[in-house]
Parts: sequence; C-alpha cells; structure tokens
Amino acid sequence: MCRLLLLLAALPVTVLSRQYAPRLIGGTTVEIKDAPWQASIVIKNEPLCSGAIIMENLILTSGWCVHRVPTSQLKVRVGTSSRSTGGSLIAVCKVHIHPHYALDRYDNDLALLYLCENVTLTDNRVQVVPLASETPNENAEGIVSGWGHTSSSSLCLLWSKMISILARVRLFWIDCLAPRSQQLQQANVKILSWQQCAADRSIFGQFNPIQGLSERTLCTIGVGGTGRGTGACYLDEGAPLVVNGFLVGILGTVGCAGKPDVYANLAQHKSWLKENTK
Ligand SMILES: *[C@@H]1O[C@H](CO)[C@@H](O)[C@H](O)[C@H]1NC(C)=O
Repeated sequence: MCRLLLLLAALPVTVLSRQYAPRLIGGTTVEIKDAPWQASIVIKNEPLCSGAIIMENLILTSGWCVHRVPTSQLKVRVGTSSRSTGGSLIAVCKVHIHPHYALDRYDNDLALLYLCENVTLTDNRVQVVPLASETPNENAEGIVSGWGHTSSSSLCLLWSKMISILARVRLFWIDCLAPRSQQLQQANVKILSWQQCAADRSIFGQFNPIQGLSERTLCTIGVGGTGRGTGACYLDEGAPLVVNGFLVGILGTVGCAGKPDVYANLAQHKSWLKENTK
C-alpha cells in the first residue's frame, strides 16, 4: 500500500513540491518556556499528539488523538521541549471525549485527559494556559506548537490534497516517510474565516468528505506571503493554538501547509468545558 501510493505520488509531487517550503510547519525551534502549557500525548510509549495544560490535573487534546485508545496506554509528558525525553511523564486516569465527536466531522474534536496526579507548576517549564472566552477575530495572529512532521513528504502532500478523509484514519505508518522534530516547533499563524476555510479545504469543486466547518471551528493559515509553507502537519494533532496568551483552539485536522489547519473553537465549547472541568 505504502509503496503503491508512493509510486502514484512520485510524478505530481516532484512538480508540486517546489511550491512548498522544505518545512511544512514552517516553524522555528523553541524552548518549553516559550510554550509552558505544551503537553506531549504518549500512546503506547510513542509521543503521537500534543495537548494543552488547562488545569494542574487536566489536559485538553483532540478527540481523534485518543479515541479507541485504552486509558491504561495513555500518558502525558510535560515540562520539556524534547518530544520523548525530560520533564515528567504522568499517567492518565480518565478520558472524556466530546460526546458529539465523529471521525467524519471537523467540529467537536476535543477530549479531556484527567491526570492521575497533578503536574508540578514551575515558572518557566509547566504552566496552565487560560481558556479564551471570545472567538478570535479573522486575521488575528496566534502561535501553534508541536512535534509533528517538519518537512514535506510526497506521500503526505498527496494525502492531504486528494484523500483527506483517509488521513483521519489512524495510520501512523505515514511516519515512515516524513521526518519529525525531536525539539518543539512553533509557528505563527492567523485566523481564516470558516467560509474561506471550507472553500480551501474542498477537493474536486465543492466536495469535502469531512463535514462540520462552522463557528464551532477555527481555521488558520501561515502568516506572511500566501500563507503557504507554514502550518501544522501529521502528529501535530491536539496542538494548542494561543492568541494573546489565551488558548483559543485545539488542533483537530492538519493541512500540512497546503490547506488550512482546523481547530475546535474553544469559546464555542464553554459550557462543555465548564461542566467537565469542575
Ligand atoms: C490538584 O489540582 C487541582 C486543580 O488545580 C486542585 O484543585 C487540587 O487541590 C490539586 N491537588 C493537590 C493534591 O495539589
């Protein structure tokens, strides 16, 4: 399967790849003090997603990241900019996925991870990020951080352009073809209207196999130029989007710098968050 797709991808991709910067995320390497709310979600000992520390004992991540994962196989690493070393590794005691999360929808892609013990807050390594209560304006600038793919793989590019619904199926073998960062990356992005996002994410005209772009989601593109060349990619899912120091979104679906990235709009999930964070 892998090889077949690679073969199919070879021709268009040599043409396409020139339009993209070598780094899909287009970010820069940062230290954990630059995003002390960042958590790495560890599934079966593999760091596969990100999350945000929203309370000392609570991590907010994407529903996609943890659906069908047994709680006993989930851990969270905080306090380090390294993907798989340092900081502290904490067990998860309970998972609560948004009740309306669905694989074929962009919205409600959220999950709360209740930690078995509290994180230890420190000034410059581990901090709680406050939740935004208002939706950020179009063009507002924010930062997203994660350990996902940092350069374009021909397979990922084809994947995100043509068969985006399959990208939501948990196929981690994609990893075999694209480099990821060991060190935390951060990128500057800006909010795109959801209508423009819907247009940009459609394939073959208006067709989009995934539904649910609305006020309940937030889309971003890279800052500067056409917005191409910067964005989140595979294994960045669950990443926190922060605008003016407030957590506004959690990354659900990546665009790998070829399409907008899609987040859950946390200001539109206030009551769900309030009910489940008491
Ligand atoms: C753990 O964190 C929660 C949420 O901030 C807090 O209410 C609780 O008192 C903390 N527990 C301990 C043992 O520090």
